Amino acid sequence: MQIEKVILAKRPIGEPTFDNFNLEIFNFSEIKTGEIFVKVKWLSLDPYMRGRMDSAKSYASPVEIGEAMEGECIGEIIDTKNEKFEVGELVIGKFGWVSHAVSNGYGLRKLERTNIPEQYFLGVLGMPGHTAWTGLNKIANAKKEETLVISAASGAVGSLAGQLAKKKGLKVLGIAGSDEKCSYVTNELGFDACINHNKIKDNMEFRNLIKSYCPYGVDIYFENVAGKTLEAIIPNMNDFGRIAVCGMISWYSGKGINEAMALPKLWRTILVKRLKVNGFIIFDHKETYPQFIEEVTPFIQKQQIIYKEDIRIGLSNAPSAFIDLLNGRNFGKMLVKVGD
Ligand SMILES: NC(=O)c1ccc[n+]([C@@H]2O[C@H](COP(=O)([O-])OP(=O)(O)OC[C@H]3O[C@@H](n4cnc5c(N)ncnc54)[C@H](OP(=O)(O)O)[C@@H]3O)[C@@H](O)[C@H]2O)c1
Repeated sequence: MQIEKVILAKRPIGEPTFDNFNLEIFNFSEIKTGEIFVKVKWLSLDPYMRGRMDSAKSYASPVEIGEAMEGECIGEIIDTKNEKFEVGELVIGKFGWVSHAVSNGYGLRKLERTNIPEQYFLGVLGMPGHTAWTGLNKIANAKKEETLVISAASGAVGSLAGQLAKKKGLKVLGIAGSDEKCSYVTNELGFDACINHNKIKDNMEFRNLIKSYCPYGVDIYFENVAGKTLEAIIPNMNDFGRIAVCGMISWYSGKGINEAMALPKLWRTILVKRLKVNGFIIFDHKETYPQFIEEVTPFIQKQQIIYKEDIRIGLSNAPSAFIDLLNGRNFGKMLVKVGD
């Protein structure tokens, strides 16, 4: 049996490129007592993986050179020497960018087969969905009639956060990277408006556009991108506004950091406007996953939440898919269909 792995070949300087990755093939003979053998069906690609490619200390350890890239997957058990698992069962686990994995079962979650597509548990009913729900309800404490702005609005996190906010009665402005994405965000997801950030000339135009859509100011900013979007939002924040800092994808590869808003100016605005700025990492909120599932699953079953996936076929396409994700060339939750 051969196992394919996409390994981290070298650390990126700036934007990741193809030579940061390598597809390698390993021979594998047999599992040992207590182990299971999993054929990976789906791999989730998520922006946080960019951080794992750097050696810098973060809330999680970096991927080492020569190791398979990290990633959450859904797989099917095809061999078992562990009495807790049966052949044919589906499991979710951090197997990484691999075609098959050997596991002792630790940290795995079994997934029932239902009428919900299994890969939704890597997206709208998985980590990104839970992030959207947590950011909106637990971090920003969003309330009816407030004005909310969400960046990366058409993506895995933003699209659910905005739809849940509309259901709660908020006014929601999205920010996305193309006219096609903006049209999806307003016409299909039901946001009140959406700004295409790639059409904006300068900060003043961006600020004024946000102001025109939010004449009474912004109560909550669901921050996914940072950079020029953040700089345009800050002056529009209302006194006592809240910023749920979920991500800052525009800075992940270092681009634009040197031109960013000066810290003293930002700090002063936070003070003067009495803003509440709250970063959060979803791994700290595992205890609310059942509550999130209970609330959001009925919306999915009744098709009251729209969910889009961007599916790339084959493990060898994971690097290009990931590079696309970091550059806004995904439209919906980025997934790789690794095997059937
Ligand atoms: N805190 C947590 O625990 C947690 C958990 C999950 C995700 N996150 C964060 O949430 C954010 C969204 O993640 P996701 O999985 O939902 O990804 P996503 O929105 O499905 O995809 C990423 C999107 O980011 C936007 N983007 C990329 N480069 C950009 C740039 N330079 N300026 C502005 N926008 C840019 C692109 O959208 P446009 O084409 O619309 O610009 C791209 O499609 C990320 O920052 C991620 O790291 C945080």
